[in-house]
Amino acid sequence: MEDLTAAVIGRLDTTPDPRLREIMQALVRHLHAFTREVGLTDDEWLAGVKFLTATGQMCDDKRQEFILLSDTLGLSMLVDEINHDAGGAATESTVLGPFYVAGAPLRDYGESIALADDAPRAVVSGVVRDPDGKPIPGALLDIWQTASNGRYDVQDPDQPPFNLRGRFHARDDGSYRFVTVRPMCYSIPDDGPVGGLLRATDRHPWRAAHIHAIVSADGYRPVTTHIFDADSDYLDSDAVFGVKESLIRPFVRHDDPAGAARLGVPAPYFTVDHDFVLAPAARRR
Ligand code: BEZ
Ligand code: FE
Repeated sequence: MEDLTAAVIGRLDTTPDPRLREIMQALVRHLHAFTREVGLTDDEWLAGVKFLTATGQMCDDKRQEFILLSDTLGLSMLVDEINHDAGGAATESTVLGPFYVAGAPLRDYGESIALADDAPRAVVSGVVRDPDGKPIPGALLDIWQTASNGRYDVQDPDQPPFNLRGRFHARDDGSYRFVTVRPMCYSIPDDGPVGGLLRATDRHPWRAAHIHAIVSADGYRPVTTHIFDADSDYLDSDAVFGVKESLIRPFVRHDDPAGAARLGVPAPYFTVDHDFVLAPAARRR
């Protein structure tokens, strides 16, 4: 039986591209080992083929069910870990997710991205700096998140376009600030084959509440990351394994009208303090 595996791997020996050869031979080795380990039956093989077919059929220009499958199997976070571990003090990365929209409005320091949402405001601020603490003036923060109903603008016809999205430049001292609402936990799309697999394996589809950020600056490695709400549910069972301890921050409640007036928000409001640390572009693992 082992001869079969050796024969398939041998058939790939002359693959001209050495990286493709390495990947295909390792894939066959692991796929055959997996199949032997579980003793895959005819019916199970066919169920797998049907599952992958349905996953492909669920994909269109708005829905990428294969990426969702990768996310829920922890594959996306593993690829992220292999490729985007900037090391040291740099802000850790996590999944991009399917709801990023390029070209969000550029906004001024302290402006609100909540175009239509009555929930209490959260004022998010901090400094973009390098691992030695040096501020990075002009760093670009691209921010997006769910409304207080747990939906992104692109999922919800009742929200105006670019609700809860905005781009901000850090000031000369590296500081940034924006006003938003507290993000909510939400379910990843679970009406397709991936949702079926989650249910069959006794898993929930919920993500811990988070604000997305892509932070970039000339001469530094960009980071795709989140700020997680420390009070959120699902921090230890996020459906896509995206939570990292270093990205969890308290949303501190304030009731003082004076503080609210100073920040230009109604009371009560929340503050979140979070620095982003970018590694120099030259630093490689
Ligand atoms: C998100 O955070 O937007 C997300 C990430 C992975 C799958 C679904 C949603
Ligand atoms: Fe998200």
